Amino acid sequence: MEYVRKKLVEEALREGYNLTLEAISTLESLQNPIEVLREVIKYLKTTKPDVIVINNEHIGEVGSKTVESAYAFSEVVFEKSLLKEWTPSIDIDERYLKHYEIEGKIVEFQNYFNSRYAKLKNILEQRGGPSSRLTDALKSLKGTELFLVVMLLEKKETEQSVILEVEDNTSTTRIVIPKKDSELIKKAEKLLLDQVFGVRVVKINNTLIPRDIFLPDIPIKSRRIDREAPEVSIVLVSDLHVGSKKFRRDSWEEFLDWLNNSRDPEAKRVGYLLIAGDIVDGVGIFPHQEKELEYTSVVQQIEELNRLLSEIPKHIKVIISVGNHDPVEKALPQPPLSKKYRAMLEKDREYVFIGNPASIKVEGRRLLVYHGQSLDDIIQHLPNVSYSILGREIKNVLEVLLQCRHLAPIYGENTPILPTPEDLLVIEDVPDIVHTGHVHVAYVGNYREVLLVNSGTWQDQTSYQRELGLEPTVGTMVLVDLKTLTAKLKKFT
Ligand SMILES: [Fe+2]
Repeated sequence: MEYVRKKLVEEALREGYNLTLEAISTLESLQNPIEVLREVIKYLKTTKPDVIVINNEHIGEVGSKTVESAYAFSEVVFEKSLLKEWTPSIDIDERYLKHYEIEGKIVEFQNYFNSRYAKLKNILEQRGGPSSRLTDALKSLKGTELFLVVMLLEKKETEQSVILEVEDNTSTTRIVIPKKDSELIKKAEKLLLDQVFGVRVVKINNTLIPRDIFLPDIPIKSRRIDREAPEVSIVLVSDLHVGSKKFRRDSWEEFLDWLNNSRDPEAKRVGYLLIAGDIVDGVGIFPHQEKELEYTSVVQQIEELNRLLSEIPKHIKVIISVGNHDPVEKALPQPPLSKKYRAMLEKDREYVFIGNPASIKVEGRRLLVYHGQSLDDIIQHLPNVSYSILGREIKNVLEVLLQCRHLAPIYGENTPILPTPEDLLVIEDVPDIVHTGHVHVAYVGNYREVLLVNSGTWQDQTSYQRELGLEPTVGTMVLVDLKTLTAKLKKFT
């Protein structure tokens, strides 16, 4: 400490400044005191050339100007009061907490698809204006220009064209896109089966000729920095796979050390921790899984999870969602963990249990939490995407969810979906943050100012992943400042 103090004083003197005792203590408590001092000096030289004594106020002024530094400087202000005065704020959309019972009747599937179509039509009409019913479009006069909202039933390719078989709730038709129209062909290539999209057409000789194709997508909005919000952050993690021999206990313990380490201002500002499913490895999830398990019963796995989560500081609100490996119904929307397992975990601390997907508001920020089962289907259908190059393609895969405004746009492949009366997988409200997992490849990015996150995994590469050529990002978490919505990926080796 003495050494740092001496360095600070020397650095200030070299630049012609003195430091107050408080300013020295403040700088000493930061992670990078010398760098911060240099920033403060740079700031004073350009804005306050008369100042020769640096005090706490000057440090705070610079702190609010850069996001990186804001973390460090707000510590000065909030260090003692943040978590004492702060009251957690979590708002859960209760539709995603329900346990849906389905009989498997045809009418249930009809209602589900009607709900999917109606919700997406509403979104598309906000972009493209009122749409025409397909049955009316087919009867319209030659030369009429129309806007249609349709669902893709089939896509075929011939030498000259790409043919889209589409339907709405009144009729079906074919839309033929000539290959020479390269712009439209590019858009058609990206269309996924069962996807609802908009198409502008002109009626020529009894045929609907497409002019443009567009997806529901999200509008471009500016990020809201809530100046009044407390400086609290949320840790996003997923795919722990506790119970697997490949679970990285050492990395998790390193993460726990960081979380409990009060010397790091970033760790001290964590108010929430959200796990986006695959909390345990489960049992009987794939053939011969028992060979890969350290704990061969779900009860043992949950007990071990309990030990690992109980070391998270008690003031942190831990929110648990579920995934395809967890002991809960597999079809989407998945309900939260059952009472039996919740009780086992709640012996030692409180949790907030949510389903998958889930829509929650934390400190007023809307989070869409989704384990990500359908990402497998999207990876298989997107041109030029595979598991072996997922590290660089995951951005495009995750963006599809927002462009389609649907969490599982392809129906009937590897993602089981319950035909609930309302399609809860449509992304109706644009979230601030989308948190996914499942593919075990970490990613942090923005799509039209929505923070897109895949928080990686805590499980080493499995033999199945090795066959696929998938390189998981192991021991990662994403730290999001809920005030500024800036995010950082942190890795624990
Ligand atoms: Fe997983």
